[in-house]
Amino acid sequence: MQSSEIRRAFLDYFKARGHVQVPSLPLVPAGDPTLLFTGAGMVQFKPYFMGLAEPPAKRLSSVQKVFRATDLDEAGDTSHLTFFEMMGNFSVGDYFKDQAIDWAWDFLTNVCKLEPEKLRITIYLDDEVAHDAWIKQGVPEERIYRYGEDQNYWFSGDVGPCGPDSEIFYDFGPQPDCDDCEPAHDGHRRFLEIWNLVFMMLYQHEDGTRTELPTKNIDTGSGLERMAAALNGSPDVYMTDLFKPSIEMIEGLTGRRYGDEPGADRAFRVVAEHARALSFLIADGVSPSNEGRGYVLRRVLRRAGYFGRSLGLTG
Ligand code: SER
Repeated sequence: MQSSEIRRAFLDYFKARGHVQVPSLPLVPAGDPTLLFTGAGMVQFKPYFMGLAEPPAKRLSSVQKVFRATDLDEAGDTSHLTFFEMMGNFSVGDYFKDQAIDWAWDFLTNVCKLEPEKLRITIYLDDEVAHDAWIKQGVPEERIYRYGEDQNYWFSGDVGPCGPDSEIFYDFGPQPDCDDCEPAHDGHRRFLEIWNLVFMMLYQHEDGTRTELPTKNIDTGSGLERMAAALNGSPDVYMTDLFKPSIEMIEGLTGRRYGDEPGADRAFRVVAEHARALSFLIADGVSPSNEGRGYVLRRVLRRAGYFGRSLGLTG
């Protein structure tokens, strides 16, 4: 599947299940001074989860453009991006864990036709409801992993809606850097997180205490680039149609080939990734400066320049 087909299939799937499609927010969120950038699909739904505004529908879906400055240093490996598109389905006090899990599994295995054996599941420690829902889908016990808050809990910030989550990983099989490992291991290419289902039911206060939100909600996020990589059978998102034209352009400008020189591949990826991120940031009104958003933009620009020069791109 090409990325445009994945996007379409996702939105159609959830539309057929009663979800109202909502347009992406800009990368600079209006009306939320706590955020520098839109970093998740749920940003525009936060007031609904908190009971502060009435949603247009209880079931919502979107493909949200997202920028995560926190991933800047990791960008340049084969799967972390500062800018990406996040597909998501959301429930504001409507369906909850069972239904969210059932649809995610159905979409991956029956619409995208990913092999069930290639999917691994992580859940929050004692989340037996999520565990049983995955077992009901036919996921065997040995492909379900339990992790603590560092892995399977999602926070929208130090203060705000949060909740335990369950993640779906795609298994690309043993890799040279990691053979017998598990989804939570970082820095390897065997497992790629392709979907996060957040059971958004609590609110974290400034003092760290948590109270229940007025409704039990669902917030899911699936990175389009990673889903395309899983469907492409390679853990490298730069081999998907979303990045191929940029990689080919860099090849044309440098006379080098992506994949030929391991030492240069990272630079290829950084330049391709940052060029895309910069374009979207600038299009959404960010310009270089010495502080705030503009300073982040400047850092991305400098990093792109540094890696670009290492490839021989000048001028
Ligand atoms: N909010 C969660 C995330 O960004 C799921 O959408 O991963």
